[in-house]
Amino acid sequence: FNAVGILGMGSYLPERVLTNHDLEKMVETTDEWIVTRTGIHTRRIADEKTATSDLATKAALRALEDADTEAEEVDLIIVATVTPDMNFPSTACIVQRNIGAQNAAAFDLEAGCSGFIYGLTVGKQFIATGMYKKVLVIGAETLSKIVDWKDRNTCVLFGDGAGAAVLGPTEEGTGILSAYMGSDGEGGKFLTMPAGGSRIPATVESVEKNLHYIKMDGSEVFKFAVRIMNRASQEAIDRSGYTVDDINYLVPHQANIRIIEAAAKKLKLPMDKVHVNLDRFGNMSAASIPVAFDEAVKQGKIKKGDLVVMVGFGAGLTWGASVIKW
Ligand code: ACO
Repeated sequence: FNAVGILGMGSYLPERVLTNHDLEKMVETTDEWIVTRTGIHTRRIADEKTATSDLATKAALRALEDADTEAEEVDLIIVATVTPDMNFPSTACIVQRNIGAQNAAAFDLEAGCSGFIYGLTVGKQFIATGMYKKVLVIGAETLSKIVDWKDRNTCVLFGDGAGAAVLGPTEEGTGILSAYMGSDGEGGKFLTMPAGGSRIPATVESVEKNLHYIKMDGSEVFKFAVRIMNRASQEAIDRSGYTVDDINYLVPHQANIRIIEAAAKKLKLPMDKVHVNLDRFGNMSAASIPVAFDEAVKQGKIKKGDLVVMVGFGAGLTWGASVIKW
């Protein structure tokens, strides 16, 4: 099999900043509660006219430039999202048109907040087998569109954004060294958007019952997250042939600082080896990991030759982790 690496990355965040103080005026909450329970101070929110594909397109163009790759060279586009522009066409096909990737196949992938890791793992296979040379993997979300802005249990947590990676062949022993994915449909009930599909179609009645918004059992998701972040990271590290002592940096899904700190502690990784941006961007679901990874690389926190673990968990329930030699 060919070795597969990330040739370039890019991300895009909408300009509008929503602060905890803004939220204090919308629901019964306080800046103090949000900061101490989640670590989030601000998040970015897309305007009314902006859909997920708009953010995904901007992140994709930045990643292509970073990878010195033309859109025509892309063989496949995977968009990981739980907030597609619409059920069909896929958001990936909309991005394919927007960037002019005439030679690319395109599809969406739905694995909640683990979507980017799933996308990376799927994309890697096509290059490893020699079927494709360049795969564009994008994690993009406009969660603000499916959040109930009257529900303080969820509306304080989420933000909008997009991150993208161009995958391609790389030197043996570098790039994506291991990947691990898992799921547990039994726990699916803890994190859902009930209406808008074939089970409960979008009707006046389902909208009146607020079933077209995110529903979450926060404490169940919290317990699952702490448990699985450690297990998934350890599994990916074992599969890479390295040990946790070799790891230079951890890029976790950005849901809650308490989840990240608990996972780092269990892994015995000091917090200065962990990238955190949820204080500024909140939980961007499938976009969180690629945005955080891109930021850590551009800030020089991830350097050439570093061993990096990405780990995520989310709706499904799903989880995934990957070790990369940068
Ligand atoms: N402001 C003030 N009070 C609040 C707020 C708020 N924004 N939100 C909830 N509360 C209240 C609740 O009403 C509840 O009050 P009650 O006990 O009177 O009913 C209480 O706070 C709950 O407090 P805790 O149980 O201490 O809250 P907890 O520490 O569990 O934190 C949180 C809640 C932040 C949601 C946490 O459970 C969490 O982060 N869970 C994981 C969420 C997550 O990771 N989601 C991932 C989504 S991934 C995807 O795929 C989209």
